[in-house]
Amino acid sequence: MKVLVIYGGESSEREVSLKTGQGVHDALKRKGYNTELFDYSRERILELVDEINKTDAIYIALHGKDGEDGKLQALIHLLNKPYVGSDLSASSLAMNKFLTKQVVSTVGIPTAKSIKISSDDNITEKISGIVHDFTFPLIVKPNREGSSFGFSLVKGSSELEEAIGTALRYDNEILVEDYLKGREFTVSIIEKDGETVALPVIEIIPKNEYYDYESKYSKGGSLHVCPAEISETLEQEMKDYAVRAYRLIGCKDYSRVDFIVDETRGAFLLEVNTLPGMTPTSLLPDAAKVFGYDYDTLVEHLIKLAMS
Ligand code: DAL
Ligand code: MG
Repeated sequence: MKVLVIYGGESSEREVSLKTGQGVHDALKRKGYNTELFDYSRERILELVDEINKTDAIYIALHGKDGEDGKLQALIHLLNKPYVGSDLSASSLAMNKFLTKQVVSTVGIPTAKSIKISSDDNITEKISGIVHDFTFPLIVKPNREGSSFGFSLVKGSSELEEAIGTALRYDNEILVEDYLKGREFTVSIIEKDGETVALPVIEIIPKNEYYDYESKYSKGGSLHVCPAEISETLEQEMKDYAVRAYRLIGCKDYSRVDFIVDETRGAFLLEVNTLPGMTPTSLLPDAAKVFGYDYDTLVEHLIKLAMS
């Protein structure tokens, strides 16, 4: 069986995707699959179609633009080939943090209060509104981005304009949201025997003040405590929120749902990642290991889900 691993791409998360793709490719090789890597760019789209037509299954190992937002999922669907992960609709919804929060809040899952700003809004008016309606500190980040690119913690109104400008460099929609002070957790999800399974919860303890790009991808940049040392009630609550969000959005095969547990108000859902990182420092492979799936077994499991 031949598996095509699409990686690289043109988003800010290209470097992360190169690691995810290489990891997946090497794992498939070790499991005896005939596998090939394809470094994606829009310029190579016709070449990609040709490769997809010659393959049996696809692992999209792209993060961000085109690979995580549903565009390639739609293309591969139209070419009638199986691929790992969520379809166009779930991918596109989950890529949009603002809409994801709106959707999950309809089933009672707590999320940080936020507003969305678009590049064609009157930014000065928006800033006055924020100063009136929110309390500092605040988080400003691109609405459809990953790996903490364009993220700022804003301590006062004088920092707001610059933070908005930074986030707008990554997306023409940005989010301004309440800063939640507390511990950071993630719940990985895989499907197994027709069930949606929440893997053991990970607590993320970054070396830096925040779980930023450096903490995410440098070796030793953060500690993953798994299973997290938390009460059973909190563990069950986050797992329940994660599975509910996964189902509501309509995710498939696997995902990772991120949370902050606010010191006084409990668990808040940050986002749902339909194309979680599979790099050596990524979270989902660590949770899978505690569950009993080493990296290679996990990757093969995902390919089998795509083929089933
Ligand atoms: N966006 C990165 C790859 C993650 O969520 O793991
Ligand atoms: Mg993300």
